[in-house]
Amino acid sequence: MSGDPGFGVYVHWPFCAAKCPYCDFNSHVRHVAPDQARYAAAFAREIGTMAERAPRRTVTSIFLGGGTPSLMEPATVAAILDAVAAHWPVADGAEVTLEANPSSVEAERFRGYRAAGVNRVSLGVQALNDTDLRFLGRLHNVDEALRAIELARTIFPRLSFDLIYARPGQTPAAWGAELKRALGLAADHLSLYQLTIEEGTPFYALHKARKLIVPDDDAAADLYQATQEVCDAAGLPAYEISNHAVPGAESRHNLTYWRYGEYAGVGPGAHGRLLQADGRHATAAEKRPEAWLEKVEAWGDGLAVDEVLTREEEGDEMLLMGLRLAEGIDLARYRALSGRPLDPARLTDLAAHGMVEAMGGERVRATRAGFFVLDAVVADLAA
Ligand SMILES: C[S@@+](CC[C@H](N)C(=O)[O-])C[C@H]1O[C@@H](n2cnc3c(N)ncnc32)[C@H](O)[C@@H]1O
Ligand code: SF4
Repeated sequence: MSGDPGFGVYVHWPFCAAKCPYCDFNSHVRHVAPDQARYAAAFAREIGTMAERAPRRTVTSIFLGGGTPSLMEPATVAAILDAVAAHWPVADGAEVTLEANPSSVEAERFRGYRAAGVNRVSLGVQALNDTDLRFLGRLHNVDEALRAIELARTIFPRLSFDLIYARPGQTPAAWGAELKRALGLAADHLSLYQLTIEEGTPFYALHKARKLIVPDDDAAADLYQATQEVCDAAGLPAYEISNHAVPGAESRHNLTYWRYGEYAGVGPGAHGRLLQADGRHATAAEKRPEAWLEKVEAWGDGLAVDEVLTREEEGDEMLLMGLRLAEGIDLARYRALSGRPLDPARLTDLAAHGMVEAMGGERVRATRAGFFVLDAVVADLAA
């Protein structure tokens, strides 16, 4: 992994065929299909505005996320990628990822995405048994997921897929077996997320009513441990808390976030971090798709938030992102960003408790025990 954070472009497609009961992402179900040509034009316009604000960058990655970007027509994806290339140089070999749901209709569009320039697909498989897929409210079954994986492998140079674990009643043995099967499907990158109960979702209400019981902290720690052991043995160690890759197959785009690099966010609800003359801007777009569309058509961007971060906020963000990585953070960069060093006494104390470790030179990282309680570790260091 080279240490250069790169410059990424994130594009958010905010629609899904159905809302999963655990999901609090900016995703919306519409009974009238959105006008894709109109959205494509708005994406292109907002890309142009972002390029005016951040000119002369070379794009190292593009990520089409969602929502369900695989509901986009290939022509919509092509128009977005063309707009990026019209405004910035795109590095040779830039990573271009599209998040796809593994239902068969979406798989039919894979060749079109590849022709448009997508070279990496991230499939939302979530589980490899039909009972759990139904529990998660997914529209696909295991057979469809396996077919989508197989097809994606033949079409895209790179493939990753997502699984959600720590489902109700899941044992480390059952999860370990499912994970081994997933690893056998020859992806060189897996995102393995622990099920989180997000406020405002149907799962939240069920959980509150004690109708949905998820593994407690100890059980979740055992599942996390099983995840690390199975993935390590298969040669896909965690390079980030929830992301595992064969060395060299890490997600370039997500590394830009975690290394606290620069990225433009495009589309409803998208976030960006842009370095401008007056400092690092944190941007966030209007979340409601129709309101975002109208804003972009009227003003050239759909931003609802655009603020310059203080040095302290930059330092906090860098910690929060960088300590997710197995490669840790560079203390000198932290000092340069925040204008102050990390408190050596706190570092020593956290190290004594086995939460962080020095890596030689000026690097520090969270240990695996620290990963498990990372929010508390970051809060302690940033205090
Ligand atoms: C926003 S989704 C987009 C991908 C695509 N729409 C899909 O669902 O397959 C990205 C990933 O976040 C994960 N995710 C979303 N909500 C989650 C939750 N509450 N707990 C754990 N993982 C979650 C899922 O694994 C999902 O694939
Ligand atoms: S998990 Fe994916 S498919 Fe399900 S609602 Fe969220 S974004 Fe949509």
